[in-house]
Amino acid sequence: MLRIAEELNRKKMSTEIEAPSINRRKFVTSLGLLGTAAGLSPLSALAEVQNVAIADGVMKCKPYLQAAHTKGITVRWITNTPCYSWVEYGESADKLNLKARQIEDGMVQVENTLHAIPLTNLKPSTIYFYRAVSEKPKSLERRAIAFESPVSTPVYSFTTPATTATDVNFLVFNDIHDRPESFPVLMKYQGDGKKDFVLLNGDMFNTQTDENQIVQNLLNPLSDLFSTGTPFIFARGNHETHGKFARSVGNYFDGQENKYYYSFSYGPMYAIVLDSGDTKSDQEPVNGGIVDFDAYREKQAVWLAQEVKKPAFINSKFKVVFIHIPPFYIDEDAHASNQYGKIWLPILNASKIDLMLCGHTHKYGIHPAVAGKHNFPIVIGGGPKDGRRTIIQVKANQQALNLKMTDDTGKVVGTLKV
Ligand SMILES: [Fe+2]
Repeated sequence: MLRIAEELNRKKMSTEIEAPSINRRKFVTSLGLLGTAAGLSPLSALAEVQNVAIADGVMKCKPYLQAAHTKGITVRWITNTPCYSWVEYGESADKLNLKARQIEDGMVQVENTLHAIPLTNLKPSTIYFYRAVSEKPKSLERRAIAFESPVSTPVYSFTTPATTATDVNFLVFNDIHDRPESFPVLMKYQGDGKKDFVLLNGDMFNTQTDENQIVQNLLNPLSDLFSTGTPFIFARGNHETHGKFARSVGNYFDGQENKYYYSFSYGPMYAIVLDSGDTKSDQEPVNGGIVDFDAYREKQAVWLAQEVKKPAFINSKFKVVFIHIPPFYIDEDAHASNQYGKIWLPILNASKIDLMLCGHTHKYGIHPAVAGKHNFPIVIGGGPKDGRRTIIQVKANQQALNLKMTDDTGKVVGTLKV
């Protein structure tokens, strides 16, 4: 799926594959398999099955999928205390005959709380089954290395993308603003078909406080709905730059070549994700002199200019841009939009962009292209209060791209065909 993820995984962590041989405590539930082989599962069935490893107090959240591509995917989870972790996986739920661990500089990581384990050399268009396993170290002293009994999650599943995917079907959430109850409400209106991924288009939070906020307000609701079986992509909003934990947010997500601005291809779509940073000027007193988003947006302009020259971008059927803060249709005086309007928009307007997807304003709307201003339609998702929340479904094949925006009552509030 994500071309960049392949590059990232090559650079980042090596993966070892071997037959697992552990004397594991039994935690697999009677349901055993919690896969999402067809579409995103509704909340009910999965929510009933509590992750017993979490109940055991070792794991802080269920596993969640990141950085999916045709040959690999990254499985992530968090433990409450430092642990040695691995993923057991295979093509049959009854035979998880492969094992992947996180290895850096020749050493297996055994005392992490953030576990990001890439599964590599996967086959395209194949269903894989997996479970996450963690164990606490008792002693890491040489000649006395010992661990407590491992705990494991139930078995989940995911499907790798086809090498020659001709279609793409995905969802977009934006401006949830620390209201995790919005995810299941909106997911009821996800639309038809199996989703390839879900893109979070900024402001999932109000201000970053700590890891528990990320777990409770994002990872838990998403894993109850889909993220054990369908990957999500994280794009940063201005509110993710606020607060004492803002500089740690990126440690929880994978698949971005530049962390918060990147591109990826899926079927007929070439996607560009840009990070608009904070709304206000770097010099505003609220920012306390500890941000430098003007220079960061200029750096992205240099990257963007190269991006639109790539044959994969030029030859793609549909070119879609994701930016949390829209360039227009904002009531407030938005420094970010004004600045990037001068350095990003000229590039985008000259690059045959088909669609821009934004959030931020909390007023949903579909704004047709205006020649010379924005030569492409801009779709803004709503939120976060009841009656203003939206879920966006995008489906594209070789003939057309169709977008549908639905509000939290199930009413379709906008459609677009490219
Ligand atoms: Fe925002």
